[in-house]
Amino acid sequence: MPSVISVQNLSKTYASGLKALDDVSLEIERGEILALLGPNGAGKTTLISIICGIVTKSSGSVTVDGHDNVTDFRAARKLIGLVPQELHLSIFETVWDTVAFSRNLYGRETNAAYLEELLKKLSLWDKKDQKIMALSGGMKRRLLIAKALAHEPRILFLDEPTAGVDVALRQDLWNVVRALRDTGVTIILTTHYIEEAEDLADRVGVINQGKLILIEDKKALMRKMGQKRLTLELAKPLAKLPKALARNGLALLDGGRELHYSYDVRSSKDSIAKLLADLAKANVTFNDLHTEQSSLEDIFLGLVKQ
Ligand SMILES: Nc1ncnc2c1ncn2[C@@H]1O[C@H](COP(=O)(O)OP(=O)(O)OP(=O)(O)O)[C@@H](O)[C@H]1O
Ligand SMILES: [Mg+2]
Repeated sequence: MPSVISVQNLSKTYASGLKALDDVSLEIERGEILALLGPNGAGKTTLISIICGIVTKSSGSVTVDGHDNVTDFRAARKLIGLVPQELHLSIFETVWDTVAFSRNLYGRETNAAYLEELLKKLSLWDKKDQKIMALSGGMKRRLLIAKALAHEPRILFLDEPTAGVDVALRQDLWNVVRALRDTGVTIILTTHYIEEAEDLADRVGVINQGKLILIEDKKALMRKMGQKRLTLELAKPLAKLPKALARNGLALLDGGRELHYSYDVRSSKDSIAKLLADLAKANVTFNDLHTEQSSLEDIFLGLVKQ
């Protein structure tokens, strides 16, 4: 897939001397959903803000569909919609005026039918004549999304769009995001809800202390880095682990009633068979067994701790 955004050797040092981004290079593919994960202060918002032209870079370059985002700012910016992390809306404006103005700001003629459809999709149509101060926090979040989409951008950045949004609404928002992706819009989102990335993203990038420490296809990542755990419910509790069974990753839990075995999905194809054979030899029998795959959250925490 050809990339739609190309970030080359991007660094940012704020006036305070803090280095928020350190030599980040990344290609964002056309039509993908890319999730950026990273702890607080990692540099996610800084990266997004530089690509969108809100924060100036210290060095490196960004192109959006071939347009340099500094020398060809207008063309680059027109392709992008941004849902910022911070809520900032003019409270005296109405919902309708906010989205209509945002569309005009990008030089697009008013298109009442498009804006109506957009507000309906985001369950804001019945609020269209309300002043923003009369909206709830979750409604304001949805309005920010409507505003970002008012000029029909081909690339949408969502910087923690579901912070403070209830579970049902979060599901609605992700359905909107999926529907947008289906129309070919490229989507870059940051989130602290890792299950969201697990659910939604095609690729996952992890930023830590200003560095992009990983960017990978989500499924491949989960396959490659995933740990599996086998749990055996023993027929009779064991007081301690027999010597013949001892191996890395094996532990006796729940007062001797359960055996847990953690293993690497790649490196140990025959380790389960060997464990089961050793159990039979040691006369340890079990009533039930199941396996679990580690989640993206486990992988993420492991990476950031390293
Ligand atoms: N305008 C600014 N001036 C000085 N330092 C800043 C500025 N904006 C951000 N920083 C610093 O840059 C670093 C990266 O911040 P950034 O907002 O990009 O992180 P983030 O990954 O978005 O974090 P969060 O998950 O909390 O939103 C932080 O240490 C932050 O304090
Ligand atoms: Mg942020």
